[in-house]
Amino acid sequence: MLTNLQRQPADALLALIKLHNADPRADKIDLGVGVYKTGQGDTPVFASIKAAEKNLVESQETKAYLGPEGDMGFVEKLMPYVFGKDDPSLGGRIEGMQTPGGTGSLRLALAVVHKAKVKRIWMGTPSWPNHAQICADLGLELKTFNHATPEGTADIEAIRAAIAEADEGDAFLLQSCCHNPTGIDYTNAHWDEIAGLLAGKKILPVLDLAYQGLGQGMEEDAYGMRRVLVSVPEALIAYSCDKNFGLYRDRVGALYIMAAEASQLGVPISNAYALARANWSQPPDHGAAAVRLILEDEALTKSWLDELDTMRERMRQVRAKLAAAGMVGGVDLTPVGGQNGLFSIIPFTPEQVQAMREKHGIYFAGSGRINVAGLTLGNIDKFIAATADVTS
Ligand code: LMR
Repeated sequence: MLTNLQRQPADALLALIKLHNADPRADKIDLGVGVYKTGQGDTPVFASIKAAEKNLVESQETKAYLGPEGDMGFVEKLMPYVFGKDDPSLGGRIEGMQTPGGTGSLRLALAVVHKAKVKRIWMGTPSWPNHAQICADLGLELKTFNHATPEGTADIEAIRAAIAEADEGDAFLLQSCCHNPTGIDYTNAHWDEIAGLLAGKKILPVLDLAYQGLGQGMEEDAYGMRRVLVSVPEALIAYSCDKNFGLYRDRVGALYIMAAEASQLGVPISNAYALARANWSQPPDHGAAAVRLILEDEALTKSWLDELDTMRERMRQVRAKLAAAGMVGGVDLTPVGGQNGLFSIIPFTPEQVQAMREKHGIYFAGSGRINVAGLTLGNIDKFIAATADVTS
């Protein structure tokens, strides 16, 4: 039977890790997969995570199973940061569960959507390639619209038209902040409008929040998602701690579900538990337990938020430096300055992407997406010079 299978290509983004590692050049630059790097080019474990892990090792008395929902202390402690301090469960209408990373929460969110007999899901493109892959794997029909205009702003007219064309009961998958791959987010005024349009058309929003705190700040980055949640009766929120706690390989995420009434929440949550059981049974504990220990401790929480501020500030400086370079060869780096999070798209052609790799040892996605956190004071001039070289 296995001979019936066809070979699948390696994931292009994850393959970049190996390509970069195999390059012997000492001055190679990795702008591929989305991990934060310091000004020295490292991705260290957060000091707050190290301290929490130490506490965990000393205090944990058992590794017995927790259940498909994982560490509910983690899930609940996170809620004021995600949904706001005043009423984090929106009157008991939101409940969550732990998932393996942001991909696990998205997979589960979309599986619930599929099980709820939603036929079509709409998404702005370009998007993170795994979004379309998960939809295809679940058999959800994907409809797309433009995420960004050629001028480098979010394309509000395209989403307006998409919502107008959508049927009642369709779902929309929206990235709440730090758009992957463009770095171009809807403005707050856009979100105000989008929230009303989604509510008017009885659309089910699936909100992907994988980079909270890496754009403008923890509160600011939650604006769009929160705006949608106060406008619509039901939604799913796929959350990741992989980036904002630097826990990448530990796979720490959460799925939150909002129902129209608190009394209606049990049914979708029970479906999410059943789907989790059939997929991974229970999420890995370690990273989520470390996050919980941080959020239970005022000093560790402050340390974590300070680390996040430092990351965001460094990325702003890199963006400002790229923007100040302006027109470089045939490409304009100015828009990068106003974009958010780890990623921006530089309009390199496929041949130019190849030349950046082969001639200059600079690795990034074939779409032209760069991870701005891979740039440092030590390598940014080389990146700008190489960009001028391949695009002139
Ligand atoms: C990325 O887009 O680089 C990250 O979300 C990592 C991943 O899993 O693709």
